[in-house]
Amino acid sequence: MSAPTGSPAGHGTTVRHRIAAVPADGVGTEVVAAGRRVLDALAERSGGAFALDWTELDWGSDHYARTGLMMPEDGLETLRGFDAIYFGAVGWPTVPDHVSLWGLRLKVCQGFDQWANVRPVTFYPGVTSPLRKADDTELDWVVVRENSEGEYAGFGGQNFGAREGTGQVAVQSAVFTETGCERIIRFAFDLARTRSRAKVSSVTKSNAQQYGMVLWDQVFAAVAADYPDVETESVLVDAMSAKFVLRPEDLSVVVASNLQADILSDLGSALAGSLGLASSANLNPEGRFPSMFEPVHGSAPDIAGQGVANPVGAIESGALMLEHLGLPEAARTLHAAVERTLADGVMTRDVGGTASTDEVVEAIVARLGG
Ligand SMILES: NC(=O)c1ccc[n+]([C@@H]2O[C@H](COP(=O)([O-])OP(=O)(O)OC[C@H]3O[C@@H](n4cnc5c(N)ncnc54)[C@H](O)[C@@H]3O)[C@@H](O)[C@H]2O)c1
Repeated sequence: MSAPTGSPAGHGTTVRHRIAAVPADGVGTEVVAAGRRVLDALAERSGGAFALDWTELDWGSDHYARTGLMMPEDGLETLRGFDAIYFGAVGWPTVPDHVSLWGLRLKVCQGFDQWANVRPVTFYPGVTSPLRKADDTELDWVVVRENSEGEYAGFGGQNFGAREGTGQVAVQSAVFTETGCERIIRFAFDLARTRSRAKVSSVTKSNAQQYGMVLWDQVFAAVAADYPDVETESVLVDAMSAKFVLRPEDLSVVVASNLQADILSDLGSALAGSLGLASSANLNPEGRFPSMFEPVHGSAPDIAGQGVANPVGAIESGALMLEHLGLPEAARTLHAAVERTLADGVMTRDVGGTASTDEVVEAIVARLGG
């Protein structure tokens, strides 16, 4: 956080937060611009309590086309000085997906040890869910994703291309460490204690993956013993996908590995109405590095440039960022304005509306005042 300065309103001091905006590709640029407008409007209305000092970095697939790199060599050094990173999405048809993801987003998550990825599954008033029970049941859960190792550890290789007759062979190893499992599982338990239902559901596929996921199960049982007040269950990932659809009212905090939580959280946001609604925080909980806030969705090349992207996931990621910056009241104000906007029927076409991205932003800004 930067040094406080005198507030324009003349009372108290303005706490200035330095934010790096990395819109990157496709609709990432549209939803980051939308989120910045709402966050700036909120800062303006704070009466000088806080301000956001933005630095926009033009990294992504265009940067790759110009330089051969998704971000500069010293990109992490550049980001290190910021209080938070506000991210859009990476990926464009001109760059192989594994190159764009590993060259930017995963580089930041891994380089800054953002080991906890928090992905709320939020059901909004006015948004139709494909789940019939959402009409008369309170549904609200959070997927906590291990974000530093597991299936996305990046260990493996591809070889034998030159060997006649056999074709290439690829090995992709998942890495599970006791430390990595324990810190994310403890995080999930601590989060569960802050929620109306203190329950953690642990997800694995340890019947089939008998090493890493068995270690996860063992660590889960050991950590659970330290939280006797928190309900627990261990569910295989295939059964958990069914449970998301059939018994979601039984969920509060769902903790899972990097890949499994990635998939489950997309299922959750689809059940809530659209991928465009889902927000996320990539946290380095120790605060050694800046944390990163981004919508769950990708760059959506199929709708990019049309002005119709749903900005809610990015805007709610801004609310998660405000909470992280120690501004919970501003975060609540923002969330309430989003809820009122959707309840009033102002929404983009992915959730059945007709509004453009800009119209949703204007409606949210108009509702910030209460
Ligand atoms: N975090 C990230 O940066 C991230 C995440 C997922 C995918 N990707 C990348 O994004 C690119 C496209 O991937 P994809 O098509 O599998 O996933 P995607 O999330 O971009 O799109 C999936 C579907 O959801 C829709 N959608 C996504 N965001 C939306 C929004 N804000 N409003 C309305 N509809 C929205 C799209 O139109 C599409 O039909 C790929 O290059 C992929 O690697 C990046």
